[in-house]
Amino acid sequence: MYRQARYDEPVINGLGRREHDEEIELKLSEKIKRQSFDFPELSEAEVVRHYTRLSQMNFCVDTGMYPLGSCTMKYNPKVNEEVARMFRDVHPYSSEAQGSLELMYRLEKLLCEIGGFDAVTLQPPAGAAGEFTGMSIVRAYFDGKGRDEVLVPDSAHGTNPASAAMAGFKVIEIPSDGKGCVDVEALKAAVSDKTACFMMTNPNTLGIFESRIEEITKIIHEAGALLYYDGANLNGIIGKVKPGAMGFDIMHFNLHKTFSTPHGSGGPGAGPVGVKRFLEDYLPLPRVRENNGRYYLDYSSKKSIGKVHEFYGNFGVLVRAFSYILLMGGEGLEKVAELSTLNANYMKEKLKKNYKLPYKDLRKHEFVLSAEPKSANYVAKRLLDYGFHAPTIYFPLIVKEALMIEPTESESRETMDQYISALIDIMNEDEREAPVNTSIREVDVVEATKKPVVTWEGMKHR
Ligand SMILES: Cc1ncc(COP(=O)(O)O)c(C=O)c1O
Repeated sequence: MYRQARYDEPVINGLGRREHDEEIELKLSEKIKRQSFDFPELSEAEVVRHYTRLSQMNFCVDTGMYPLGSCTMKYNPKVNEEVARMFRDVHPYSSEAQGSLELMYRLEKLLCEIGGFDAVTLQPPAGAAGEFTGMSIVRAYFDGKGRDEVLVPDSAHGTNPASAAMAGFKVIEIPSDGKGCVDVEALKAAVSDKTACFMMTNPNTLGIFESRIEEITKIIHEAGALLYYDGANLNGIIGKVKPGAMGFDIMHFNLHKTFSTPHGSGGPGAGPVGVKRFLEDYLPLPRVRENNGRYYLDYSSKKSIGKVHEFYGNFGVLVRAFSYILLMGGEGLEKVAELSTLNANYMKEKLKKNYKLPYKDLRKHEFVLSAEPKSANYVAKRLLDYGFHAPTIYFPLIVKEALMIEPTESESRETMDQYISALIDIMNEDEREAPVNTSIREVDVVEATKKPVVTWEGMKHR
Protein backbone atom coordinates (compact mmCIF):
# COMPACT_ATOMS: atom_id res chain seq x y z
CA MET A 1 0.00 0.00 0.00
CA TYR A 2 1.33 3.42 -0.95
CA ARG A 3 2.04 5.80 1.91
CA GLN A 4 2.95 9.40 1.38
CA ALA A 5 6.28 10.33 2.92
CA ARG A 6 5.95 12.50 6.02
CA TYR A 7 8.59 15.16 6.54
CA ASP A 8 8.51 18.22 8.69
CA GLU A 9 9.40 20.29 5.64
CA PRO A 10 9.17 24.09 5.83
CA VAL A 11 8.55 26.21 2.72
CA ILE A 12 11.81 26.93 0.93
CA ASN A 13 12.04 30.45 2.28
CA GLY A 14 12.02 28.98 5.76
CA LEU A 15 15.11 26.92 4.96
CA GLY A 16 18.74 27.92 5.06
CA ARG A 17 20.79 30.99 5.73
CA ARG A 18 19.39 34.38 5.02
CA GLU A 19 22.56 36.42 4.94
CA HIS A 20 24.12 36.64 1.53
CA ASP A 21 27.83 35.90 1.46
CA GLU A 22 28.74 38.37 -1.17
CA GLU A 23 27.10 41.40 -2.64
CA ILE A 24 26.43 40.90 -6.31
CA GLU A 25 27.15 44.02 -8.28
CA LEU A 26 24.16 44.68 -10.51
CA LYS A 27 24.44 47.38 -13.13
CA LEU A 28 20.83 48.39 -12.79
CA SER A 29 19.16 51.70 -12.14
CA GLU A 30 18.44 52.26 -8.41
CA LYS A 31 14.78 52.80 -9.32
CA ILE A 32 14.23 49.20 -10.40
CA LYS A 33 16.48 47.52 -7.80
CA ARG A 34 14.60 45.68 -5.07
CA GLN A 35 15.54 47.12 -1.68
CA SER A 36 15.05 44.02 0.41
CA PHE A 37 15.80 40.64 -1.07
CA ASP A 38 14.20 38.05 1.17
CA PHE A 39 15.48 34.88 -0.39
CA PRO A 40 17.25 31.91 1.22
CA GLU A 41 20.79 31.12 0.24
CA LEU A 42 20.91 27.38 -0.38
CA SER A 43 23.18 24.98 -2.19
CA GLU A 44 21.94 23.06 -5.23
CA ALA A 45 21.82 19.86 -3.17
CA GLU A 46 19.64 21.51 -0.53
CA VAL A 47 17.22 22.80 -3.16
CA VAL A 48 17.03 19.42 -4.93
CA ARG A 49 16.41 17.63 -1.64
CA HIS A 50 13.73 20.10 -0.64
CA TYR A 51 11.74 19.61 -3.84
CA THR A 52 12.31 15.84 -3.89
CA ARG A 53 10.95 15.61 -0.34
CA LEU A 54 7.91 17.68 -1.36
CA SER A 55 7.30 15.39 -4.34
CA GLN A 56 7.47 12.36 -2.04
CA MET A 57 4.80 13.93 0.15
CA ASN A 58 2.55 14.29 -2.86
CA PHE A 59 0.10 11.92 -4.52
CA CYS A 60 0.12 11.47 -8.29
CA VAL A 61 -0.79 8.99 -11.04
CA ASP A 62 2.79 7.74 -10.92
CA THR A 63 2.31 6.58 -7.32
CA GLY A 64 -1.22 5.24 -7.22
CA MET A 65 -4.76 5.02 -8.55
CA TYR A 66 -6.36 8.43 -8.95
CA PRO A 67 -9.94 7.83 -10.15
CA LEU A 68 -11.15 11.44 -10.13
CA GLY A 69 -14.42 11.24 -12.09
CA SER A 70 -14.70 13.40 -15.24
CA CYS A 71 -11.03 14.35 -14.79
CA THR A 72 -9.63 11.27 -16.57
CA MET A 73 -6.46 10.92 -14.51
CA LYS A 74 -4.98 8.32 -16.83
CA TYR A 75 -1.32 7.33 -16.84
CA ASN A 76 0.83 9.89 -18.68
CA PRO A 77 3.30 7.96 -20.89
CA LYS A 78 6.89 9.07 -20.37
CA VAL A 79 7.57 9.09 -24.10
CA ASN A 80 5.39 12.24 -24.24
CA GLU A 81 7.97 13.97 -22.04
CA GLU A 82 10.80 12.87 -24.34
CA VAL A 83 8.98 14.33 -27.33
CA ALA A 84 8.17 17.57 -25.47
CA ARG A 85 11.87 17.94 -24.59
CA MET A 86 12.73 18.03 -28.31
CA PHE A 87 10.91 21.37 -28.51
CA ARG A 88 12.34 22.91 -25.37
CA ASP A 89 14.57 25.43 -27.15
CA VAL A 90 11.90 26.80 -29.49
CA HIS A 91 11.03 30.30 -28.38
CA PRO A 92 7.35 31.26 -28.75
CA TYR A 93 8.42 34.29 -30.79
CA SER A 94 10.04 32.07 -33.38
CA SER A 95 6.71 32.02 -35.15
CA GLU A 96 8.27 30.78 -38.35
CA ALA A 97 9.56 27.57 -36.72
CA GLN A 98 8.32 25.05 -39.26
CA GLY A 99 8.43 22.02 -36.95
CA SER A 100 6.22 23.64 -34.29
CA LEU A 101 3.76 24.96 -36.86
CA GLU A 102 3.55 21.62 -38.61
CA LEU A 103 2.90 19.89 -35.29
CA MET A 104 0.04 22.29 -34.52
CA TYR A 105 -1.37 21.95 -38.02
CA ARG A 106 -1.31 18.16 -37.87
CA LEU A 107 -2.74 18.09 -34.34
CA GLU A 108 -5.63 20.28 -35.48
CA LYS A 109 -6.32 17.85 -38.34
CA LEU A 110 -6.19 14.84 -36.00
CA LEU A 111 -8.63 16.48 -33.59
CA CYS A 112 -10.95 17.35 -36.51
CA GLU A 113 -10.94 13.67 -37.46
CA ILE A 114 -11.47 12.42 -33.89
CA GLY A 115 -14.25 14.92 -33.13
CA GLY A 116 -15.92 15.03 -36.55
CA PHE A 117 -15.34 18.77 -37.07
CA ASP A 118 -14.03 20.92 -39.93
CA ALA A 119 -11.71 23.28 -38.07
CA VAL A 120 -9.99 23.42 -34.68
CA THR A 121 -8.21 26.07 -32.61
CA LEU A 122 -5.58 24.87 -30.14
CA GLN A 123 -5.44 28.15 -28.24
CA PRO A 124 -7.70 27.77 -25.16
CA PRO A 125 -5.63 26.68 -22.13
CA ALA A 126 -8.29 24.52 -20.37
CA GLY A 127 -11.67 22.92 -20.82
CA ALA A 128 -13.37 25.86 -19.13
CA ALA A 129 -11.47 28.26 -21.41
CA GLY A 130 -12.64 26.16 -24.38
CA GLU A 131 -16.23 26.53 -23.17
CA PHE A 132 -15.82 30.29 -22.90
CA THR A 133 -14.28 30.36 -26.39
CA GLY A 134 -17.21 28.29 -27.70
CA MET A 135 -19.78 30.51 -26.01
CA SER A 136 -18.05 33.63 -27.38
CA ILE A 137 -18.32 32.09 -30.86
CA VAL A 138 -22.05 31.45 -30.29
CA ARG A 139 -22.49 35.06 -29.16
CA ALA A 140 -20.63 36.41 -32.18
CA TYR A 141 -22.60 34.14 -34.55
CA PHE A 142 -25.98 35.32 -33.25
CA ASP A 143 -24.84 38.91 -32.81
CA GLY A 144 -27.90 41.15 -32.57
CA LYS A 145 -30.42 38.38 -33.34
CA GLY A 146 -31.98 38.36 -29.87
CA ARG A 147 -30.85 34.88 -28.90
CA ASP A 148 -29.58 35.37 -25.39
CA GLU A 149 -30.37 32.08 -23.60
CA VAL A 150 -28.16 29.04 -23.12
CA LEU A 151 -29.67 25.78 -21.88
CA VAL A 152 -27.62 23.55 -19.56
CA PRO A 153 -28.62 20.19 -17.99
CA ASP A 154 -28.72 20.03 -14.18
CA SER A 155 -26.02 17.33 -14.29
CA ALA A 156 -23.56 19.67 -16.05
CA HIS A 157 -20.19 20.69 -14.68
CA GLY A 158 -20.29 24.12 -13.02
CA THR A 159 -18.02 25.58 -15.68
CA ASN A 160 -20.79 25.15 -18.31
CA PRO A 161 -23.26 27.65 -16.83
CA ALA A 162 -20.34 29.83 -15.68
CA SER A 163 -18.88 30.04 -19.21
CA ALA A 164 -22.27 30.81 -20.73
CA ALA A 165 -22.92 33.52 -18.13
CA MET A 166 -19.43 35.01 -18.63
CA ALA A 167 -20.14 35.24 -22.35
CA GLY A 168 -23.25 37.28 -21.51
CA PHE A 169 -26.00 34.64 -21.77
CA LYS A 170 -28.90 33.95 -19.46
CA VAL A 171 -28.57 30.33 -18.27
CA ILE A 172 -31.61 28.03 -18.13
CA GLU A 173 -31.29 24.71 -16.31
CA ILE A 174 -32.83 21.59 -17.86
CA PRO A 175 -33.74 18.83 -15.36
CA SER A 176 -32.69 15.19 -15.74
CA ASP A 177 -35.25 12.40 -16.08
CA GLY A 178 -35.50 9.31 -13.87
CA LYS A 179 -32.73 7.60 -15.86
CA GLY A 180 -30.24 10.42 -15.32
CA CYS A 181 -30.52 11.72 -18.90
CA VAL A 182 -31.78 15.05 -20.25
CA ASP A 183 -35.56 15.30 -19.74
CA VAL A 184 -36.50 15.75 -23.38
CA GLU A 185 -40.02 17.04 -22.61
CA ALA A 186 -38.56 19.72 -20.33
CA LEU A 187 -36.06 20.58 -23.05
CA LYS A 188 -38.85 21.00 -25.63
CA ALA A 189 -40.69 23.30 -23.23
CA ALA A 190 -37.60 25.45 -22.64
CA VAL A 191 -36.48 25.87 -26.26
CA SER A 192 -37.61 29.05 -28.00
CA ASP A 193 -36.47 31.64 -30.51
CA LYS A 194 -34.41 33.09 -27.66
CA THR A 195 -32.30 29.93 -27.38
CA ALA A 196 -28.76 30.38 -28.64
CA CYS A 197 -27.27 27.06 -27.60
CA PHE A 198 -27.67 23.83 -25.65
CA MET A 199 -24.49 22.67 -23.86
CA MET A 200 -24.20 18.93 -23.32
CA THR A 201 -21.76 16.38 -21.99
CA ASN A 202 -22.21 12.96 -23.59
CA PRO A 203 -21.60 10.52 -21.91
CA ASN A 204 -22.95 12.78 -19.19
CA THR A 205 -21.46 13.27 -15.75
CA LEU A 206 -23.23 10.15 -14.45
CA GLY A 207 -21.29 8.24 -17.11
CA ILE A 208 -24.52 7.54 -19.02
CA PHE A 209 -24.72 7.91 -22.80
CA GLU A 210 -27.54 10.26 -23.81
CA SER A 211 -29.16 7.85 -26.24
CA ARG A 212 -31.82 10.36 -27.36
CA ILE A 213 -29.10 12.60 -28.73
CA GLU A 214 -30.43 12.57 -32.32
CA GLU A 215 -33.86 13.67 -31.15
CA ILE A 216 -32.25 16.38 -29.02
CA THR A 217 -30.15 17.59 -31.96
CA LYS A 218 -33.28 17.85 -34.08
CA ILE A 219 -35.15 19.87 -31.45
CA ILE A 220 -32.27 22.31 -31.01
CA HIS A 221 -31.51 22.75 -34.71
CA GLU A 222 -35.15 23.12 -35.69
CA ALA A 223 -35.37 25.95 -33.18
CA GLY A 224 -32.45 27.62 -35.00
CA ALA A 225 -30.04 27.16 -32.06
CA LEU A 226 -26.60 25.54 -31.80
CA LEU A 227 -25.39 22.49 -29.90
CA TYR A 228 -22.20 22.57 -27.82
CA TYR A 229 -20.33 19.42 -26.75
CA ASP A 230 -18.34 19.43 -23.51
CA GLY A 231 -15.50 17.01 -24.32
CA ALA A 232 -14.51 16.24 -20.73
CA ASN A 233 -15.93 12.73 -21.06
CA LEU A 234 -14.66 11.92 -24.54
CA ASN A 235 -12.57 9.06 -23.14
CA GLY A 236 -15.64 6.80 -22.95
CA ILE A 237 -16.48 7.05 -26.67
CA ILE A 238 -13.27 8.02 -28.44
CA GLY A 239 -12.87 6.23 -31.75
CA LYS A 240 -16.43 4.87 -31.50
CA VAL A 241 -18.65 7.93 -32.03
CA LYS A 242 -17.81 11.42 -33.25
CA PRO A 243 -19.53 14.34 -31.51
CA GLY A 244 -19.71 16.10 -34.89
CA ALA A 245 -21.67 13.13 -36.27
CA MET A 246 -24.06 13.28 -33.31
CA GLY A 247 -24.99 16.76 -34.54
CA PHE A 248 -22.87 19.00 -32.32
CA ASP A 249 -21.76 22.28 -33.89
CA ILE A 250 -18.96 23.15 -31.46
CA MET A 251 -16.93 21.13 -28.97
CA HIS A 252 -13.94 21.44 -26.72
CA PHE A 253 -11.41 18.68 -26.15
CA ASN A 254 -9.58 18.37 -22.84
CA LEU A 255 -6.11 17.34 -24.00
CA HIS A 256 -5.05 17.04 -20.35
CA LYS A 257 -7.75 14.40 -19.83
CA THR A 258 -8.39 12.26 -22.91
CA PHE A 259 -4.93 12.73 -24.40
CA SER A 260 -2.81 11.96 -21.36
CA THR A 261 -1.09 15.23 -20.60
CA PRO A 262 -0.30 15.85 -16.94
CA HIS A 263 -2.86 17.84 -14.99
CA GLY A 264 -3.99 18.64 -11.50
CA SER A 265 -3.11 21.41 -9.08
CA GLY A 266 -3.99 24.02 -11.68
CA GLY A 267 -1.14 23.01 -13.98
CA PRO A 268 -1.22 23.97 -17.65
CA GLY A 269 -3.83 22.28 -19.80
CA ALA A 270 -5.30 22.65 -23.26
CA GLY A 271 -8.92 22.91 -24.34
CA PRO A 272 -8.89 23.05 -28.16
CA VAL A 273 -12.21 23.95 -29.76
CA GLY A 274 -13.60 22.30 -32.87
CA VAL A 275 -16.35 23.80 -35.05
CA LYS A 276 -18.33 22.97 -38.15
CA ARG A 277 -17.38 24.83 -41.34
CA PHE A 278 -20.01 27.60 -40.97
CA LEU A 279 -18.39 28.73 -37.70
CA GLU A 280 -14.74 28.51 -38.78
CA ASP A 281 -14.24 32.24 -39.33
CA TYR A 282 -15.15 32.97 -35.71
CA LEU A 283 -12.25 30.92 -34.28
CA PRO A 284 -9.49 32.77 -32.37
CA LEU A 285 -6.48 34.03 -34.29
CA PRO A 286 -3.90 33.22 -35.46
CA ARG A 287 -4.81 30.11 -37.44
CA VAL A 288 -2.07 27.78 -38.64
CA ARG A 289 -2.13 27.34 -42.41
CA GLU A 290 -0.15 25.38 -44.95
CA ASN A 291 0.81 26.36 -48.47
CA ASN A 292 3.00 24.17 -50.66
CA GLY A 293 4.58 22.44 -47.67
CA ARG A 294 5.25 25.72 -45.80
CA TYR A 295 3.40 26.50 -42.59
CA TYR A 296 2.47 30.02 -41.52
CA LEU A 297 0.26 31.95 -39.11
CA ASP A 298 -2.82 33.60 -40.58
CA TYR A 299 -4.41 36.64 -38.88
CA SER A 300 -6.80 37.56 -41.67
CA SER A 301 -10.31 36.62 -40.45
CA LYS A 302 -12.44 39.71 -39.75
CA LYS A 303 -15.10 37.73 -37.87
CA SER A 304 -12.71 36.13 -35.35
CA ILE A 305 -13.56 36.51 -31.66
CA GLY A 306 -9.90 37.49 -31.13
CA LYS A 307 -7.23 35.93 -28.97
CA VAL A 308 -8.10 33.81 -25.93
CA HIS A 309 -4.54 33.04 -24.75
CA GLU A 310 -1.03 34.33 -25.32
CA PHE A 311 0.84 32.90 -28.28
CA TYR A 312 -0.78 29.63 -29.49
CA GLY A 313 -1.95 28.08 -26.22
CA ASN A 314 0.09 25.84 -23.95
CA PHE A 315 2.43 24.48 -26.58
CA GLY A 316 4.12 21.87 -24.33
CA VAL A 317 0.72 20.31 -23.66
CA LEU A 318 -0.04 20.22 -27.38
CA VAL A 319 3.20 18.36 -28.08
CA ARG A 320 2.44 15.73 -25.44
CA ALA A 321 -1.08 15.15 -26.78
CA PHE A 322 0.23 14.88 -30.36
CA SER A 323 2.78 12.31 -29.20
CA TYR A 324 0.05 10.31 -27.41
CA ILE A 325 -2.29 10.26 -30.42
CA LEU A 326 0.50 9.01 -32.71
CA LEU A 327 1.58 6.47 -30.10
CA MET A 328 -1.94 5.05 -29.77
CA GLY A 329 -3.11 5.26 -33.38
CA GLY A 330 -6.77 4.90 -34.31
CA GLU A 331 -7.09 1.35 -33.00
CA GLY A 332 -5.35 2.21 -29.75
CA LEU A 333 -7.73 5.10 -29.11
CA GLU A 334 -10.73 2.87 -29.77
CA LYS A 335 -9.33 0.41 -27.23
CA VAL A 336 -9.18 3.29 -24.72
CA ALA A 337 -12.95 3.72 -25.02
CA GLU A 338 -13.50 -0.03 -24.60
CA LEU A 339 -11.20 -0.56 -21.63
CA SER A 340 -12.18 2.58 -19.75
CA THR A 341 -15.84 1.54 -20.14
CA LEU A 342 -15.12 -2.05 -19.09
CA ASN A 343 -13.19 -0.90 -16.00
CA ALA A 344 -15.92 1.50 -14.87
CA ASN A 345 -18.63 -1.15 -15.23
CA TYR A 346 -16.49 -3.75 -13.44
CA MET A 347 -16.07 -1.46 -10.45
CA LYS A 348 -19.72 -0.41 -10.47
CA GLU A 349 -20.91 -4.03 -10.40
CA LYS A 350 -18.54 -4.91 -7.54
CA LEU A 351 -19.53 -1.90 -5.44
CA LYS A 352 -23.28 -1.71 -5.91
CA LYS A 353 -24.00 -4.16 -3.05
CA ASN A 354 -22.21 -1.94 -0.55
CA TYR A 355 -22.96 1.54 -1.92
CA LYS A 356 -26.17 3.08 -3.20
CA LEU A 357 -26.20 3.33 -6.99
CA PRO A 358 -28.83 5.97 -7.80
CA TYR A 359 -28.92 5.40 -11.57
CA LYS A 360 -28.70 1.75 -12.57
CA ASP A 361 -27.93 1.84 -16.32
CA LEU A 362 -24.82 0.58 -18.03
CA ARG A 363 -22.07 3.17 -17.83
CA LYS A 364 -19.43 4.46 -20.13
CA HIS A 365 -16.10 5.44 -18.53
CA GLU A 366 -17.38 6.55 -15.08
CA PHE A 367 -20.17 5.96 -12.57
CA VAL A 368 -21.61 7.75 -9.57
CA LEU A 369 -22.36 6.19 -6.17
CA SER A 370 -23.77 7.77 -3.06
CA ALA A 371 -21.71 7.53 0.15
CA GLU A 372 -24.88 7.71 2.29
CA PRO A 373 -25.26 7.11 5.22
CA LYS A 374 -21.64 8.26 5.47
CA SER A 375 -20.47 11.52 3.97
CA ALA A 376 -18.59 11.67 0.66
CA ASN A 377 -16.02 13.85 2.40
CA TYR A 378 -15.33 11.16 5.00
CA VAL A 379 -14.94 8.39 2.40
CA ALA A 380 -12.58 10.62 0.41
CA LYS A 381 -10.35 11.40 3.41
CA ARG A 382 -10.32 7.81 4.63
CA LEU A 383 -9.27 6.51 1.18
CA LEU A 384 -6.03 8.46 1.58
CA ASP A 385 -5.20 6.30 4.61
CA TYR A 386 -5.61 3.26 2.37
CA GLY A 387 -3.08 4.75 -0.02
CA PHE A 388 -5.54 5.80 -2.72
CA HIS A 389 -6.61 9.13 -4.08
CA ALA A 390 -10.28 9.99 -3.59
CA PRO A 391 -12.77 10.01 -6.45
CA THR A 392 -14.51 13.28 -7.37
CA ILE A 393 -16.98 14.13 -4.62
CA TYR A 394 -20.20 16.17 -4.43
CA PHE A 395 -20.53 16.22 -8.22
CA PRO A 396 -22.86 15.88 -10.04
CA LEU A 397 -25.14 17.83 -7.73
CA ILE A 398 -28.15 15.63 -8.53
CA VAL A 399 -26.70 12.76 -6.43
CA LYS A 400 -26.53 13.19 -2.65
CA GLU A 401 -23.05 12.56 -1.17
CA ALA A 402 -21.83 11.77 -4.68
CA LEU A 403 -18.71 9.70 -5.33
CA MET A 404 -17.86 9.93 -9.01
CA ILE A 405 -15.42 7.18 -9.95
CA GLU A 406 -13.45 7.02 -13.20
CA PRO A 407 -10.78 4.28 -13.13
CA THR A 408 -9.64 4.96 -16.74
CA GLU A 409 -8.11 2.32 -18.98
CA SER A 410 -4.77 2.52 -17.16
CA GLU A 411 -5.67 0.46 -14.08
CA SER A 412 -5.17 -3.29 -13.76
CA ARG A 413 -7.83 -5.57 -12.32
CA GLU A 414 -5.63 -6.10 -9.22
CA THR A 415 -5.42 -2.38 -8.50
CA MET A 416 -9.15 -1.91 -9.02
CA ASP A 417 -9.83 -4.84 -6.67
CA GLN A 418 -7.69 -3.20 -3.98
CA TYR A 419 -9.58 0.06 -4.42
CA ILE A 420 -12.94 -1.75 -4.29
CA SER A 421 -11.98 -3.56 -1.10
CA ALA A 422 -10.81 -0.27 0.51
CA LEU A 423 -14.17 1.32 -0.35
CA ILE A 424 -16.10 -1.64 1.09
CA ASP A 425 -14.03 -1.61 4.32
CA ILE A 426 -14.63 2.13 4.70
CA MET A 427 -18.38 1.71 4.31
CA ASN A 428 -18.49 -1.12 6.86
CA GLU A 429 -16.13 0.25 9.54
CA ASP A 430 -16.98 2.70 12.32
CA GLU A 431 -16.05 6.28 11.45
CA ARG A 432 -12.71 7.47 12.80
CA GLU A 433 -10.36 10.39 12.42
CA ALA A 434 -9.13 10.59 8.82
CA PRO A 435 -6.71 10.99 7.23
CA VAL A 436 -4.02 10.05 9.74
CA ASN A 437 -1.35 8.61 7.43
CA THR A 438 -0.77 11.72 5.31
CA SER A 439 1.75 14.47 5.97
CA ILE A 440 -1.05 17.05 6.08
CA ARG A 441 -4.12 16.00 8.07
CA GLU A 442 -7.62 17.25 7.25
CA VAL A 443 -7.36 20.81 5.96
CA ASP A 444 -9.93 23.53 6.58
CA VAL A 445 -11.31 23.58 3.03
CA VAL A 446 -13.46 26.65 3.59
CA GLU A 447 -10.50 28.68 4.89
CA ALA A 448 -8.28 27.34 2.10
CA THR A 449 -10.82 28.35 -0.54
CA LYS A 450 -11.78 31.71 0.88
CA LYS A 451 -8.35 32.85 2.07
CA PRO A 452 -5.79 31.02 -0.04
CA VAL A 453 -2.15 31.75 0.86
CA VAL A 454 -0.17 31.07 -2.27
CA THR A 455 2.90 33.29 -1.92
CA TRP A 456 5.73 33.67 0.58
CA GLU A 457 4.67 37.28 1.17
CA GLY A 458 1.15 36.07 1.99
CA MET A 459 2.59 33.46 4.33
CA LYS A 460 4.62 36.07 6.20
CA HIS A 461 1.56 38.23 6.80
CA ARG A 462 -0.82 35.52 7.94
C1 LIG B 1 -17.72 17.67 -17.27
C2 LIG B 1 -16.65 18.72 -17.19
N1 LIG B 1 -16.74 19.80 -18.00
C3 LIG B 1 -15.81 20.77 -17.98
C4 LIG B 1 -14.72 20.72 -17.12
C5 LIG B 1 -13.72 21.84 -17.13
O1 LIG B 1 -12.49 21.42 -17.66
P1 LIG B 1 -11.11 22.05 -17.19
O2 LIG B 1 -10.85 21.55 -15.80
O3 LIG B 1 -10.12 21.55 -18.18
O4 LIG B 1 -11.25 23.54 -17.23
C6 LIG B 1 -14.60 19.63 -16.25
C7 LIG B 1 -13.45 19.57 -15.32
O5 LIG B 1 -13.15 18.64 -14.66
C8 LIG B 1 -15.59 18.61 -16.28
O6 LIG B 1 -15.50 17.54 -15.48
